[in-house]
Amino acid sequence: ATLNKVEDFLQPFRLSVEKLREVSARLRKDFIRGLGKHTHRRAPVKMLPTFVRSTPDGTEKGDFLALDLGGTNFRVLHVRVVENLQRVLKMDSKICPISQEIMLGPGEQLFDHIAACLAEFLESLGLKDLTLPLGFTFSFPCEQKDIDKSILVRWTKGFNCSGVEGEDVVKLLREAIHRRGDFDISSVAMVNDTVGTMMSCGYRDQSCEIGMIIGTGTNACYMEEIKNVKRVEGEDGRMCINTEWGGFGDDGSLRDIQTEFDVEVDRSSLNPGVHTFEKMISGMYLGEVVRLVLVKLAQEKLLFGGELSEDLLTQDKFKTKYISQIEDDAAELDQAREILLKLGLPASPEDCEIVRMVCSTISTRSAHLCAAALATIVNRIRTNRGLDHLRTTVGVDGTVYKKHPKFSQRLQDAVHVLAPKCEISFLVSEDGSGKGAAMVTAVAQRLAMQSR
Ligand code: BG6
Ligand code: GLC
Repeated sequence: ATLNKVEDFLQPFRLSVEKLREVSARLRKDFIRGLGKHTHRRAPVKMLPTFVRSTPDGTEKGDFLALDLGGTNFRVLHVRVVENLQRVLKMDSKICPISQEIMLGPGEQLFDHIAACLAEFLESLGLKDLTLPLGFTFSFPCEQKDIDKSILVRWTKGFNCSGVEGEDVVKLLREAIHRRGDFDISSVAMVNDTVGTMMSCGYRDQSCEIGMIIGTGTNACYMEEIKNVKRVEGEDGRMCINTEWGGFGDDGSLRDIQTEFDVEVDRSSLNPGVHTFEKMISGMYLGEVVRLVLVKLAQEKLLFGGELSEDLLTQDKFKTKYISQIEDDAAELDQAREILLKLGLPASPEDCEIVRMVCSTISTRSAHLCAAALATIVNRIRTNRGLDHLRTTVGVDGTVYKKHPKFSQRLQDAVHVLAPKCEISFLVSEDGSGKGAAMVTAVAQRLAMQSR
């Protein structure tokens, strides 16, 4: 009887194939809206031009610096692109922690911190006297005017630094470096993490024309026909578009699938009303959705004998990584029991079973929603090109995709159903964004040389 009642609670999280098709069709309309000339400021799905038109041709070469900001770790990298070798070598890299205080403080402090990390990294490698080009993976929505001019539309995920929204991020970085005065950089290329991921996989597989992230946040980019991008001049060729699909639903279009728990996660987040789709999918929020469902089940006396613990009642105490651990078949229910005990909840075997059911329902919904969105992209590329059948590759990164034991399989199975005419290979990116950003910088340099 208890299990049946729990089933009823979880029902709103289970989306039928028909519903997923509907969601995919809605996103398709939002893509078209976002690509329009003047609508993008109000469009929930921003469809931002990236000024990446060309994938590597193999003649790029040289040494580059890369910054990777916005995922779990902030990293600085030194990367070498080797001509004709079809590869990018990571020479060195370093993770620099960013405190909560910096993530929520003044923008100047953030960029001073970034410049300091770069300086320390260059110092340790004895590279401080070289003036290298830099690829900056900045995984937030930016309105790019060019490859080296990138205005932050708004912060998402856990960042909220003052004085940066509406400003050119390249300018803020250069100013911080000049304030120090102990090193310099040459040209800069700005890329979203989705773009970096696509570009780095593109070096390995020429048909990689989609980049997808399912990590702290979620997003994807793909190669669109320039003639469809109303804000960029030109009729021929393609440009990579950063969809910012996380904002899907911000105009209320996903209200029919939002549960009371999603509404609560949004309400208590740093940015209520922003990135509705992301909050149903990505690592920053999944654990919190699970936590709220567990609280409710306990209050209904369907779990933990009706007992609650302080930890279970505290925001963000149920980590998204617990979901991966609890759903790992190899661990049976031991993981669930240990994790719950850590949260101050002595759990019976039935409790553990229920908690696992909750985790799997919510992570499955996440994978299915991603599948619906990815189906929108591949179906669009296929019809753009007038093809009956499309074969393509997606470069993927992000802790949810990489660490959850069942996520990628569920996602792939669902895309297969939602986009039957597309054959998709998934390439997991390693150090993708940093290498990809260096690659974009190298391509930009090559193009600049050629046009001289
Ligand atoms: C990293 C990329 O590997 O994955 C980052 O280098 C990206 O650019 C990140 O933002 C996304 O995953 P997560 O889980 O760290 O947010
Ligand atoms: C958020 C950001 C987006 C990024 C994604 C994945 O949705 O807005 O730019 O690509 O997270 O990191």
